[in-house]
Amino acid sequence: MTNVAVIGAQWGDEGKGKVVDWLASRADVVVRYQGGHNAGHTLVVGKETYKLSLLPSGLVRGKLGVIGNGVVIDPEALLSEIARVQAQGLSVTPETLRIADNAVLILPMHGALDRAREGARGDRKIGTTGRGIGPAYEDKVARRAIRVADLAEPETLDAKLDELLRHHNTLLASLGAPIFEKAAVLARLLELAPSILQYAEPVWERLDGLRKGGKRILFEGAQAVMLDVDHGTYPYVTSSNTVAATAASGAGIGPQAVGFVLGIAKAYTTRVGSGPFPSELHDDIGKGLGARGHEFGTVTGRPRRCGWFDAAMVRQAVKVGGIQGLALTKLDVLDGLAELKICTGYRIRGELVSHLPAAPGAQAAAEPIYETMEGWSGSSRGAKSWADLPAQAVKYVRRIEELTEAPVTLVSTSPERDDTIMVRDPFQD
Ligand code: GDP
Ligand code: IMO
Ligand code: MG
Repeated sequence: MTNVAVIGAQWGDEGKGKVVDWLASRADVVVRYQGGHNAGHTLVVGKETYKLSLLPSGLVRGKLGVIGNGVVIDPEALLSEIARVQAQGLSVTPETLRIADNAVLILPMHGALDRAREGARGDRKIGTTGRGIGPAYEDKVARRAIRVADLAEPETLDAKLDELLRHHNTLLASLGAPIFEKAAVLARLLELAPSILQYAEPVWERLDGLRKGGKRILFEGAQAVMLDVDHGTYPYVTSSNTVAATAASGAGIGPQAVGFVLGIAKAYTTRVGSGPFPSELHDDIGKGLGARGHEFGTVTGRPRRCGWFDAAMVRQAVKVGGIQGLALTKLDVLDGLAELKICTGYRIRGELVSHLPAAPGAQAAAEPIYETMEGWSGSSRGAKSWADLPAQAVKYVRRIEELTEAPVTLVSTSPERDDTIMVRDPFQD
């Protein structure tokens, strides 16, 4: 018996929420360890659809949810998300949700700076979610961030806000954006403090106890390897590390406790925001994938860019992310396509290359090399076993395993929780 970490293997929105919800029935606790409310995880349970950004997906199963120190927490966003899911009938209490007291807060000037900088970038904008994720992580490494535990110390908040506002107001003013007044920010933080502090604790201690007690921990990643600040398509990335190694540092647990690393990949590729996307489709096939897959951002509602499955990119994600098995999602969206293409490598300025290089010019110049496979006419939607899948769909999955050098552990065939084929139980060592 082991723990499991779920990470995205492409550019996000692979269906991590669905897979985490499905796996959560086998876990005792679900831990978020990086990212913030830039994430949007959709869970479909019968007639109810839950859209979670900060809350760990295990809460929907009534499992303990933990928000680790590696997450950047917007207190306003967290409280409104709690209120929203409570209105849907979920119970979120200090017994079911714990938040790391050393996690960093996102404050209103972070979102303002994120949006002002994107505006100033013009054509070169990253296409961020505008939620202040980057500026909050910047403040963390610059050692001026306000953390959850600071909410209990008004004098600490007061002093930290001086430094924070000196920095942010200078930048905001230089971009022509409105600046913030300390008294108002401080008053609002003090108002929110009790609601947040009721969930706060040193979660590393609880996780240590759970681990020693033989409990199963499920680590829920946000974003994906190709959005990782080191390993992704920099600078068109998010501001945290998204690889599985981050689960340890972002939760306060040793790397050996992370367990089996399950990478989630769509049976095709999507991306929101700007940046290179070699297998992107600008034709009717791409539009069809977007329509059948309902490819609109959970957080921003932006249409997602769609393209063929990029096996070279996922193979790279498998290697740098430490992925031991893949969960392949949205296979059903490919139902009915006469022909499918899989990108197996790139041609960059005349050279054959098997991975996406680090230089942005080379990434932008990468032309996909495809192999073509026959599609299937039957339906894979709702399949719960290999036997339910059209033979050609099984061949497609097998080819993906070969090209990505990772075994397929799960296959997802609809947004519904139970429409999942389990090839191997990731919690079983
Ligand atoms: P996440 O950010 O990785 O959790 O993914 P999102 O929730 O942002 O986006 C995935 C979308 O695909 C959601 O609307 C899911 O309900 C949906 N989804 C997940 N798995 C499947 C699947 O196997 N088939 C189909 N058709 N939809 C799926
Ligand atoms: P989940 O967890 C898809 C993208 C943004 C932008 C870039 C930087 O739902 O898979 P940021 O606001 O993080 O500074 O934006 O990263 N991005 C995501 N794309 N899914 C996500 O999360 C994302 N979180 C951030 O669109 O391109
Ligand atoms: Mg998402």
